[in-house]
Amino acid sequence: MKNDFNREDPRREIERLRRELREHDHFYYVLDNPRISDGEYDALLARLKVLEAAHPELVTPDSPTRRVGGKPSAAFAPLAHKIPMLSLDNAYSAEEFLEWDKRVRNGLKGEPYELVVEPKIDGLSCSIEYERGVFARASTRGDGETGEDVSLNVRTIRAVPLRLNLENPPAFFEARGEVYIEKKDFEAIREEQLDHGAEPFANPRNAAAGSLRQKDPAVTAGRKLKFFAHSYGYLEGIAEPETHWDYLEYCRKAGIPAPDLGKKPRRGAEEILKFYEEYASGRFTLPYEIDGLVVKVNSLKQQKLLGATSKSPRWAIAFKYPAQQATTTVRNVWFSVGRTGVITPVADLEPVKCGGVMISSSTLHNFDEIKRLGLKTGDRVVIERAGEVIPKVIKVVSDARTGAEKEIHPPRRCPSCGSETVKDEAEVAYRCLNPSCPSQIRRSLLHFASRDAMNIDGLGESSVEQLTDKKLVAEFSDLYRLKKEDLLGLELFKDKKAENLLAQIEASKKQPLSRLIYALGIPHIGEKSARVLAGHFKTMEALTHAGSEELGRISDIGPIIAGSIIDFFSETHVRELVRGLESLGVNMAEPEKAKGSGLEGKSFVFTGELKTMTREEAELRVRELGGKEASSVSSKTSYVVAGEAPGSKYEKARKLGVEILNEEEFLKLIEVRGRR
Ligand code: IVH
Repeated sequence: MKNDFNREDPRREIERLRRELREHDHFYYVLDNPRISDGEYDALLARLKVLEAAHPELVTPDSPTRRVGGKPSAAFAPLAHKIPMLSLDNAYSAEEFLEWDKRVRNGLKGEPYELVVEPKIDGLSCSIEYERGVFARASTRGDGETGEDVSLNVRTIRAVPLRLNLENPPAFFEARGEVYIEKKDFEAIREEQLDHGAEPFANPRNAAAGSLRQKDPAVTAGRKLKFFAHSYGYLEGIAEPETHWDYLEYCRKAGIPAPDLGKKPRRGAEEILKFYEEYASGRFTLPYEIDGLVVKVNSLKQQKLLGATSKSPRWAIAFKYPAQQATTTVRNVWFSVGRTGVITPVADLEPVKCGGVMISSSTLHNFDEIKRLGLKTGDRVVIERAGEVIPKVIKVVSDARTGAEKEIHPPRRCPSCGSETVKDEAEVAYRCLNPSCPSQIRRSLLHFASRDAMNIDGLGESSVEQLTDKKLVAEFSDLYRLKKEDLLGLELFKDKKAENLLAQIEASKKQPLSRLIYALGIPHIGEKSARVLAGHFKTMEALTHAGSEELGRISDIGPIIAGSIIDFFSETHVRELVRGLESLGVNMAEPEKAKGSGLEGKSFVFTGELKTMTREEAELRVRELGGKEASSVSSKTSYVVAGEAPGSKYEKARKLGVEILNEEEFLKLIEVRGRR
């Protein structure tokens, strides 16, 4: 700002920054709908801190620099924290991190100290209280003093134990941590939201927050939320651990997930810096999104010595990765038609590098989003890429307008088939209602073939496009009529590839009914409802004749799903399609769970890569035999199946004495149990 001619009067600038920050706090904390990126927010806050430091006479106790979070929303009952929930200070560069380290060193007057590194997962802070080892209540952070009672919703998170796995649980134990969502689950929710014309969550943090703060806990339950502990609150009847590391170990032992970047505590900031740099790209391989690392002084005695400011502890720092933003131009906006006819605007961008990757397009979600951004074709825009997640336009650079920019209007006609589009009053989406729309057909086929549906691996976008363009496939059953000659006529299809695809299509005929139900793309039927339906009806025949009374009696099947099934199967062309699939040999039944002869009550954790089957197939086999799969190892795990290059779960299983099977042993086990 040194050459800034229009420098604002500091008092006015401080007031403006505080106003803006409060507004953004409200959007972020109360409405779960941030309008700017974290990086931009942090820049505003950093500027305010600088000004306040230079003008201490202008500091007021209610400045955003002096407090922790935002106001709790009125929807959930308030729950006071026994000990305030603090936040973290940030370091955005190696220099800032080393400055923090220096403050720690000075604070500890030359005593040696260890540092623990954890991922900084972008989720929602949450406190979970256990009384005598039993889940008692859970709350969000709120303003740090009082949060919201989200007990019912947190109870639905499977990663959160309802009872601690301890022989002598303490009288009171408050684990604090992060509720978050993995990248793949975030993508799945978004896709479903887009398909149903709902406004999709912009990022995993919003998805976690929106899913946790649901009025209906059943919705939360379906969202695959995760939790990991990173700190603690009030404890009673338990000696305070000596180190943070011991605390994390204690949590894991008790059955509460805790972060594990696989290494012991470290000495020296240099080691942390090296790790930070390695992880700048390594973090993208994690199943969840992180926006930095959290570095903490390990010894609790030393933590106490260092203490905290009103906002954050001095013994910890969030060492952030730079926000991945770039500025570019919207060249054009086109419209993509989804599986259920929802029309999504997509921005065609002047290619630009962002976070090390060339970006040339970005979804605009829906027309409300375009309105919210005030976006026109030709605009300069700021885009942001968070982790591997699709980039998004976060704002228009209005100063760069030339007057040549053009308004963006929703299309009157479907860009794929030309039929008139319709906007439902209740929805934000425009739709194409033509069931033979080529774009919808393509997207439905891709869904049908997807990994969690019929799992036909070789059927990707380009094959589907060619198959539909050449009129070889117009509906699902046509896939099972394909011949080798048909495929050889396609681009890039040689002998081997054609045979592989045909073999995969053939193998998909054996998929259980639950996958077929999911694959059909019945509105509102996700993987879970498909499994419930298949488990109840056992055959497609029974499902197609299901009446609303019977559907209503099934727990987990609500009236929307029931109505959707009845509508779907009352269509003549659907019944014909199902008959066609059956006559071509597609399995129409759910395999019986062999009662008492399978893997009932057994839990499996997989680690490393299997050679003879995919992880999904192995898990399916376990489920078919009545067992269940879990994502983390505890002393209750029956078996850990270790494939090639197993991860930390293998070590953990060894430590806990859980039985470890190699692939061959696993195959034998499922074969023996399956036959009995
Ligand atoms: S420790 C007293 N550890 O980041 C210190 N926080 O920006 C309490 N977060 O409010 C926090 N990962 O919600 C800690 N490994 C981690 C974390 C973490 C994510 C969140 C947490 C905190 C926010 C601060």
